[in-house]
Amino acid sequence: MTETVASPRTQQDSTLEHSKIRVSADEVAAYDHSGRQPVLLGFFIAVVWLLVGTVLGDISSFKFDRPDLLSEQAYLTFGRIRPAHLNVMVYGWASTAMFSISLWLMPRLCRTRLRWATAATAGILIWTLGLAVGTVLLIAGYSDGLEWLELDGQWADPLLVAGAALVGASIWRTLAARRVHHLYVSVWYVAASYPWFLIIFIAGNLPIYQGVESAAVNWFYAHNALGLWLTTINLGLIYYLLPKIIGRPIYSYWLSLVGFWGLALFYALNGMHHLIGGPLPSWMIATSITASIMMIIPVVAVGINQHMTVVGRFGAMRYSPALTLAVIAAMSYTAVSLQGILTALVSVNRITHFTHWTIAHSHLGLYMFVTLSLFGGMYYILPRVLKKEWPSTRLVRAHILLVGGGMILYVVALGIGGVLQGLSLLAPSEGFEVSVTSTRPWLLMRSVAAVIISAGHIVFAYHAYLLAFTHRGSLTRQPPFFELKPVLVKKRAP
Ligand code: HEM
Ligand code: HEM
Repeated sequence: MTETVASPRTQQDSTLEHSKIRVSADEVAAYDHSGRQPVLLGFFIAVVWLLVGTVLGDISSFKFDRPDLLSEQAYLTFGRIRPAHLNVMVYGWASTAMFSISLWLMPRLCRTRLRWATAATAGILIWTLGLAVGTVLLIAGYSDGLEWLELDGQWADPLLVAGAALVGASIWRTLAARRVHHLYVSVWYVAASYPWFLIIFIAGNLPIYQGVESAAVNWFYAHNALGLWLTTINLGLIYYLLPKIIGRPIYSYWLSLVGFWGLALFYALNGMHHLIGGPLPSWMIATSITASIMMIIPVVAVGINQHMTVVGRFGAMRYSPALTLAVIAAMSYTAVSLQGILTALVSVNRITHFTHWTIAHSHLGLYMFVTLSLFGGMYYILPRVLKKEWPSTRLVRAHILLVGGGMILYVVALGIGGVLQGLSLLAPSEGFEVSVTSTRPWLLMRSVAAVIISAGHIVFAYHAYLLAFTHRGSLTRQPPFFELKPVLVKKRAP
């Protein structure tokens, strides 16, 4: 029995010898098996962090409606719970799931088994220990005081660096042992993300900056953590899932390279747009705004490439949760980037800076793009590693509806509330309190959304538990979305 493995090759490179490599299903199973331990460990830890981060996000949200809620103990105050939410979601949920996804993708795309799997497992454990120590210290009041870099520099950061370096070493060792000449675009994204992350994280944490310099380095780090870490691995995953699930090559190899190099070139210069209006030399702000506008090139290249890959096959989304989530995530990437470019314009930033608009933007990016892409990856990868199918179609649908619907409500409510807040802050005739009271209904809506999304997370965690730890998911059962194949065959017919 043979399967053309993960060969989301392009029309352009279809003549290349390597793309004709056919790999047996046994070989594919061997690639998946080689990373089984770190992949499952990472996913398990990620889901635990997702639940912890959800509780922290919910408390942060409810505090906007009832500021006196849980305010008696210092460790439950907004100033500690909010950064804990950020760090747990970004480094615990998203980054740990991204480790697993990278460790699963690389052997498949390099047509070889995962190398240094034990180092990767150790890396995930060390990273988790670092984050756990850092989060406890953060809640206890020990913060480095820079957004996205709050985790303790002495106890947590060295563990995070060691953890990411070990996982990265396994990724790069596997790349070095590849059995293909051509590197599919997902490999570019995934492999590049590790050195990028380590460089920016170490640079961001060096204790040598002061004052404005420190703010500039802070946002150099935070923006690149978004662009050269969270974005890149998820774009790599989406570039894998779309062609693989619908069974046709990516639309254009060259557009995917424009997307990759455009992102690498322009994103790194974007950071200072977080400090528009701040006390920085104007050339720094002007450069970052120009680079933000230039981001239109890679964003449109990726958008066209991914859209043209799926066009005509959108119907298949009904039968594949991984495809549904990957498509929504891909569209959200385009949407959040266009929103970001708009927000980087001085005239718009004047209104939206320091408002809930930015939180809507954050969650459009980190949830509708990053988190949905990660869910899609887990729907696709877990059954292949565990050799069992997700037990319940109903739970899959409930999860997607709850998190998708909830997050749309979250983003729309804060988007509108944020603009109203910004306009109110700029109106000289209105007192500051008007900007607060006018946003209350929108914040309440966000809290309703938070409850809906949290229910979705519980459904997902329960379903993953059923799949991994019970006999409910089984090879003998029909996979929940088994109709996909006939639909695609029907579409192909003239
Ligand atoms: C149940 C789902 C979630 C809820 C209810 C939630 C809620 C919140 C709240 C209330 C804040 C503080 C907003 C403020 O300071 O004005 C926040 C900030 C933040 N959250 Fe979430 N969140 C959720 C999911 C996530 C996820 C999955 C991620 C990342 C993968 C994430 C990343 C962030 C980040 C980075 C910030 C800081 C944003 C900024 O400063 O612009 N959140 N979230
Ligand atoms: C072309 C692409 C993008 C541009 C030009 C852009 C632009 C911006 C700007 C100007 C801000 C600062 C808003 C302010 O503080 O006034 C911002 C904040 C933010 N962006 Fe984007 N964005 C882009 C893509 C993304 C993507 C893809 C994500 C998520 C993966 C994302 C996540 C965030 C987050 C989390 C923040 C808040 C950071 C914080 O304050 O903690 N952005 N973005």
